[in-house]
Amino acid sequence: MNFKNVTVYQIYPKSFYDGNNDGIGDLPGITRKLDYIRGLGADYIWITPFFRSPQRDNGYDISDYRQIEPMYGTMADFDALIKKAESLGIGVMLDMVFNHTSTEHEWFQKALKGDPRYLDYYIFRDGSPDEPPTNWQSKFGGSAWEYVPHLKKWYLHLFDKTQADLNWENPEVRGQLKDVIRFWKSRGVKGFRFDVINLISKPAVLENDLTGDGRRFYTDGPKVHEYLKELHREAGLDDVLTVGEMSSTSLENCIGYTSPREKELNMSFSFHHLKVDYRNGDKWELQPVDYRKLKDILETWQLGMQTHGGWNALFWCNHDQPRTVSRFGDDGAYWKESAKMLATLMYLMRGTPYIYQGEELGMKNAGFDSVGQYRDVESRNYYNILTQKGLSDKDALEILSQRSRDNGRTPMQWTDSRYAGFSENEPWIGLSEDSKGICAERQQNEKDSVFAYFKSLIELRKNEPLIGEGNIEFLYSEREDIFCYRRSLGNREMIVLCNLTPETVYGDFAKLLTGMSGRLGNYPDISVQTDGRLRPYEAVVYQYKAAF
Ligand code: GLC
Ligand code: CA
Repeated sequence: MNFKNVTVYQIYPKSFYDGNNDGIGDLPGITRKLDYIRGLGADYIWITPFFRSPQRDNGYDISDYRQIEPMYGTMADFDALIKKAESLGIGVMLDMVFNHTSTEHEWFQKALKGDPRYLDYYIFRDGSPDEPPTNWQSKFGGSAWEYVPHLKKWYLHLFDKTQADLNWENPEVRGQLKDVIRFWKSRGVKGFRFDVINLISKPAVLENDLTGDGRRFYTDGPKVHEYLKELHREAGLDDVLTVGEMSSTSLENCIGYTSPREKELNMSFSFHHLKVDYRNGDKWELQPVDYRKLKDILETWQLGMQTHGGWNALFWCNHDQPRTVSRFGDDGAYWKESAKMLATLMYLMRGTPYIYQGEELGMKNAGFDSVGQYRDVESRNYYNILTQKGLSDKDALEILSQRSRDNGRTPMQWTDSRYAGFSENEPWIGLSEDSKGICAERQQNEKDSVFAYFKSLIELRKNEPLIGEGNIEFLYSEREDIFCYRRSLGNREMIVLCNLTPETVYGDFAKLLTGMSGRLGNYPDISVQTDGRLRPYEAVVYQYKAAF
């Protein structure tokens, strides 16, 4: 399984392309846009859940793992998608949400009827209605427990109350989930992304958390490595690409999840580098990006995984995150430069890139300014929590405008026409305010567009083995204003040098790059001046000419 040189493109189907003009993206829409993805150079697409679901959490609340939610299409549409993808050499990865199901899933419905077999599929605890079994908090706000009066029991939900956590202790549950993998594999699926997979193993005895929200008890829980090994072995994950989403995880655990000798997963998503603008670790308290911290985290994870043989998924954003350029770059004056710089910095490191729809165009945050524009369950819950805490409407909306997951969920911008060419009818969620300026159609024809740059980056990864296979070493670690590393393999070498700031910065870069030539850069002329100057947000990639 070669996963080191490939690039994955993430699709959020609801917002990607609407094939039948009902305002909601769908599977036929994806099929029609596969040529675009091939044009970009991606090898895999990861499609977030389109299974049967009441859509409380946009499909992460699954009520049937083997059926397709009708608004996304039919099984025949899925088969057609696979067929077209295969013909283009694109592998399809699906999103397996195995920590929980929707409370509308048949299993939960049977549990609600008191069937002991299915009660044991979930985490139910007896108790009085006025006191939940533990003080654990849901990641979407409020208690992680919901009371079912007629059963006189509580059930655990680490996310929305309609997302009940599965009981992985029960071998029958694990068996069911393996079957789901086999089912989709047999339909031609070539990879899986496992949703919050490091939360599946809860301790046998659940206790109050006197110092936190409970996560320390179930994050990278007692049997998680054992369960992943079993899944790998018995569901047949050897010949597909696998990535686990790891919530609040540790480097040590991710080494375990991804070291080939452990036979668990190919790679992991970790999120520490996306919390460097949280105040005291709180997503809902604003703070400017701490670039010092960002550098430290990326370096620690890169070197840690390298030393111990683990593998990172490389990413800046996804459907749960604000837009990269608005968050880490400058989406005004240096929009184009900073979007390209951030891509250079991230995607030439050691790991596998995941590009999220619209990122390759430099799409920006949504710019919503009223609560009615938000669709996301987490955003709406937190709007209420924040205003109940006493924040003004204006302050709560300011926080949402920077932190809401909907920033990344506005419709993909295909053209300059009405609804950005996403649909001919009003989309289920409003367009981003940048939708008049940024679109795929135009960028595909422009030589210096963000799209063209992403394309070059992906191509470079493919043609230059040292990016997938080589060693990484960080330079200028002590400097907060630049990010720089050397990649090497045998006698081949590459230097990636990025200015993280809107200012011109200086250093002994000319010396560092002696004898090398620019291979890629985000300014029309790739050249580090002899005075060692790097322009605002400049990114350059240097190699010895003989190696080009
Ligand atoms: C993951 C998904 C997110 C979802 C959550 C619960 O973090 O990426 O969208 O809300 O899991 O399934
Ligand atoms: Ca549709």
